[in-house]
Amino acid sequence: MSVIIQLSPVTINRIAAGEVVERPASVVKELVENAIDAGADRIEVVTSGGGKTLIRVTDNGVGMLAADLSLAVERHCTSKLIEDDLLDIRTLGFRGEALPSIGSVADLRIETRHASEDNGWAITVSGGSRSDIEPVGLSRGTRIEVRNLFFSTPARLKFLKSERAEAGAITDVVKRLALAHPEIRFSLSGSDRSPLDYPALAAGDFRGRALQVMGADFAENSIEIDALREGVRLTGLAGLGTLQKANAQSQYLFVNGRPVRDKLLIGAIRAGYADVMARDRFPAAVLFVDLDPHEVDVNVHPTKADVRFRDPGLVRGLLVGALRRAHADAGHRAASTHGAATLDVLTAAVRPMPTSASSAWRSDYQSRPVAFDWRTAPDRPLPGEVPLSRAFAEDAVSFDAGSPQTSFSVVDDAVSADARPGLAEAPVESVSRPLGAPRAQIHETYIVAQTATGLVIVDQHAAHERLVYERLKQEIAKGVETQMLLIPEIVDMPEEDVDRLIERAEELAELGLVVESFGPGAIAIREIPALLGRTDTAALLRDIADDLAEWDQATRLREKLDAIAATMACHGSVRAGRRLRVEEMDALLREMEATPNSGQCNHGRPTFVELKLSDIERLFGRR
Ligand SMILES: Nc1ncnc2c1ncn2[C@@H]1O[C@H](COP(=O)(O)OP(=O)(O)OP(=O)(O)O)[C@@H](O)[C@H]1O
Ligand SMILES: [Mg+2]
Repeated sequence: MSVIIQLSPVTINRIAAGEVVERPASVVKELVENAIDAGADRIEVVTSGGGKTLIRVTDNGVGMLAADLSLAVERHCTSKLIEDDLLDIRTLGFRGEALPSIGSVADLRIETRHASEDNGWAITVSGGSRSDIEPVGLSRGTRIEVRNLFFSTPARLKFLKSERAEAGAITDVVKRLALAHPEIRFSLSGSDRSPLDYPALAAGDFRGRALQVMGADFAENSIEIDALREGVRLTGLAGLGTLQKANAQSQYLFVNGRPVRDKLLIGAIRAGYADVMARDRFPAAVLFVDLDPHEVDVNVHPTKADVRFRDPGLVRGLLVGALRRAHADAGHRAASTHGAATLDVLTAAVRPMPTSASSAWRSDYQSRPVAFDWRTAPDRPLPGEVPLSRAFAEDAVSFDAGSPQTSFSVVDDAVSADARPGLAEAPVESVSRPLGAPRAQIHETYIVAQTATGLVIVDQHAAHERLVYERLKQEIAKGVETQMLLIPEIVDMPEEDVDRLIERAEELAELGLVVESFGPGAIAIREIPALLGRTDTAALLRDIADDLAEWDQATRLREKLDAIAATMACHGSVRAGRRLRVEEMDALLREMEATPNSGQCNHGRPTFVELKLSDIERLFGRR
């Protein structure tokens, strides 16, 4: 007897629904996209119960003919594919899957009136079974109501988040789509939320829409982007580096008007901001990539959130280049507002410690008289610049350290009650050391130290990062000491990232990072390098996954070891913004003196600058 059966259409639809309709917000996305495709200039969304009890989307688009209405809820029925050409997609929808999927897991009612018809028509679909078409009174357009979402698939219902969280996800979907269509009026209301209303603007007024959606703060603190490379156009607004966010929520990306959360683009944004933002902060941006539909495959993900570019390198390069240029330009603008005279004096006066630096480092900074460059200097080498590995391949900085080195360790992020960095005294003999005696910590970021001949300002994060990096490199040569996590940390991440990490698990273990796969879309961290101490291991792993994604498949991890070590060091280092005790500052300075290459951080910026007394005197016109 045969054991293989053909699934019923209802089951087939439910399976499809599992992919297309993950949560209420996906329903809103599908319905609003349909309304946009229908040419509406007014779209109204009403929800209740976080979209679980009701979602209603009303538009004033073309509507559907009676004959089309019954087809619309059938699987694989679409009006949008031009001659079955999946390579030439100009609409948001193209699969003919959304409405039947929704109809299989909810109560769906569609009312619609086509411009050419005298009255409207309605159809209802409930848990996959559909009614006949009946006439209704309606003005031009379409109104679609979805009630009791997932009532027929209770398992799915259980996985939904709180009403608030689902309502929030819906807001996000509407905002995303609204950003791409300033010419459409969007409103969102319901018992589960405070209402939104974005009046229609002139077509193409993306800045105006960004002002409505993201607020004045973003609109005022962003740079207009407009770049073109080989037929690919990048437009939009990029937030200034100073506008930092804790997550990627404020990044809105569109490819041919379609909202996406594409890894390649997200990675490119990160790279584009590398100069102006720490790796654990996120920029805000609204960016549109427009290109020939043949150059991009949008049919790679059930919810169309991912796309595949024919030439990913081109798109990435365009984004990274345009963002970097924009920041460079904005940087000049900001700098030009400073008193030029003071800046000139400072420029001449402030310089990295000259006598003890490696020759490469010295010549680098001496040939660039604008010592303030380091403020805007790139975090990582730009293509064609000296790669990271060069920085430490050079001869070592050798300070005459004199005394045995004190071990510097970050004890805890908490500030002890008696920490009064400005008042405590550093050991007397410290003054005679090259980096001097710490006198104060300012802005929880810089250590000010007094030397025999002037003062030194140390960037604590940059300095510590270099120390951790150097120690990591030494350890890697000898065998990394690891620290077992009592409870393995589970990190959720996209499957392709998990695969990449697992593929390199053996090599990562050599670096002291022991990971194993933890089901699809998750990875377990078991051990980390001991010297990293307490660190956000999840963020570290994500960054390493990003690193791996950026490099070509064939590159051996060993060759990239330095870069991984640098990523680790960055995570294991004391952050800017943490208050240090005097002993800690003193220990840091002493360890810097004893560590090769400590004159610059892993990103090539100096870790400290020195002002000679004579320079200070010049600043005050005494010389
Ligand atoms: N709001 C609307 N106004 C006018 N026509 C609509 C509307 N919503 C759906 N339709 C019609 O119903 C068809 C089916 O919609 P559905 O969303 O299921 O598929 P699609 O949009 O073609 O493709 P996808 O599954 O990728 O979204 C559409 O092709 C369109 O012709
Ligand atoms: Mg659709």
